[in-house]
Amino acid sequence: MEHYYAVAIDGPSGAGKSTLARALAKELGFVYVDTGAIYRSVGYFARQRGVDPADEAAVEALLPEIRLEMLYGEDGLQHMILNGQDVTREIRLPEISLYASRVSAIPAVRAFLLEMQRGMARTHSVIMDGRDIGTVVLPQADVKLFLTASAEDRARRRFLELEERGTPEPYEKLLEEMRERDRNDTSRAAAPLRAAEDAVVLDTTGNTFQQSFDLLLRTIKEKL
Ligand code: DC
Repeated sequence: MEHYYAVAIDGPSGAGKSTLARALAKELGFVYVDTGAIYRSVGYFARQRGVDPADEAAVEALLPEIRLEMLYGEDGLQHMILNGQDVTREIRLPEISLYASRVSAIPAVRAFLLEMQRGMARTHSVIMDGRDIGTVVLPQADVKLFLTASAEDRARRRFLELEERGTPEPYEKLLEEMRERDRNDTSRAAAPLRAAEDAVVLDTTGNTFQQSFDLLLRTIKEKL
């Protein structure tokens, strides 16, 4: 049987996980799996239905109505298909972030999405990024990385990203949201954000993209 490699990258939002994972996947010829996108899709659906994302029973009741697919385009980019509709762009809207964070605290939501993530790793070599990939989703991953940076640095990156996208938001607001999401993601009982015991912890505060990329690539190659 062919062996597929799995690289897990966890860490708080804005640490640069997705940009780095995408570039690393390209370099290594692996599939980049963005697991935040599936939580975002569930959050998006809750919002569409006018359901309070913190209402556990109400969100759980929505799950049987959700059919989620991950497709990879010619460009190698991951597309999220929610009940037949491509929601790849919509789930990036800033208001979806908090919805995603809220629904991701619900154990039934996490259980609902688990098999989908594991299935990807059974059929492809993957770089998967998220919050609990090294701890819960792929505990047997060949390489586990935990990426961090200061909240200020992460808010600054988000600020530049949104500005570039033409949808600027005040820095102070982004910093407060970053802290709120950190609190939600680390304090929840179900699969909280934490580094796996065997993860390599890398702090990218102050790094350029290239510096972080080189550091991660070196770390992955040493381990594989
Ligand atoms: O990575 P992201 O910001 O797109 O993720 C959106 C939310 O989904 C984030 O606040 C936490 C949650 N999430 C999670 O709980 N577990 C994952 N593996 C990925 C994301």
